[in-house]
Amino acid sequence: MTPASEPARILDGAALAQRIRAGVGDGCRRLRERRGVVPGLTVVLVGEDAASQIYVRNKEKAARAAGMESHVVRLPTATSERELLGLVGELNADPAVHGILVQLPLPEGIDSQRVIEALDPDKDVDGFHPLNAGRLFAGLPGLLPCTPAGILRLLEHHEIPLAGKRAVVLGRSNIVGKPLALLLLRRNCTVTICHSRTTNLAEIAASADVLVAAIGRPGLVTGEMIKPGAAVVDVGIHRVSEESECRRLYGDDPERLAAVRERGGTLVGDVHPLEARRRAGWLSPVPGGVGPLTIALLLENTLAAAERAATSVH
Ligand code: GUN
Repeated sequence: MTPASEPARILDGAALAQRIRAGVGDGCRRLRERRGVVPGLTVVLVGEDAASQIYVRNKEKAARAAGMESHVVRLPTATSERELLGLVGELNADPAVHGILVQLPLPEGIDSQRVIEALDPDKDVDGFHPLNAGRLFAGLPGLLPCTPAGILRLLEHHEIPLAGKRAVVLGRSNIVGKPLALLLLRRNCTVTICHSRTTNLAEIAASADVLVAAIGRPGLVTGEMIKPGAAVVDVGIHRVSEESECRRLYGDDPERLAAVRERGGTLVGDVHPLEARRRAGWLSPVPGGVGPLTIALLLENTLAAAERAATSVH
């Protein structure tokens, strides 16, 4: 382990994502040459959520760049659940669509779970359908949720020891915390999930060899919550627009302060960046850590779904 006096080494998600995307590009080319199939991804965006618009545009661009057929269906906020379920049914039946992603959150009045359950599990490139969640639970092959799968790849790529180690996951969402805990368990970690009702969260976090923060609170994980030398993965992404908050997180960093003053904000994760850099052995940056991997794994899932459809007998 890295002595605590050295600054944490970077878990470089952006670089790994680039390699994965290049591999997906090769896979798309092979599938086209051998089977005449171009993987198709359709992303469904309902409403005007500003962050979702950016995420969806990035997913569309990344899929195109890998050589996929990529479409975004944009629907108004007033779309009914019935209409959305109808669209999902059409996409399920369309053989040119291998992957379907319904961007979350959905507007009020639409039951996300019903929409997820309406997806063909073989096209569920988010890995959110209960059949895929159940496969993960049972240790069976299936489409894995992109962010947790990306985090595992990041830890493995940097050869972070997992077997027998203590992993603590902060957050219990269906998208990140719960599936990630199962993936770490599969790698023989001793896993603890903490959440908003956990007592002595700081103490549990500080026992972790691998600490993953996916709790949705800017800079929550401070230095004393990190075991010296631990690998820390930061899943959070928040905009900091207050100068005092920026100083709490980044000290007198002139670039960060300039970003707040001149561009209205800077980004931070769930981990206190300055304190973590001093204490952790490894740290994923925000941005450039987990975010790019989520998209890379989405592309891998879409390619896998297309390969499966091309080779299975119907
Ligand atoms: N919203 C935030 N993250 C995700 C994700 O991974 N998938 C979908 N569908 N929506 C999201």
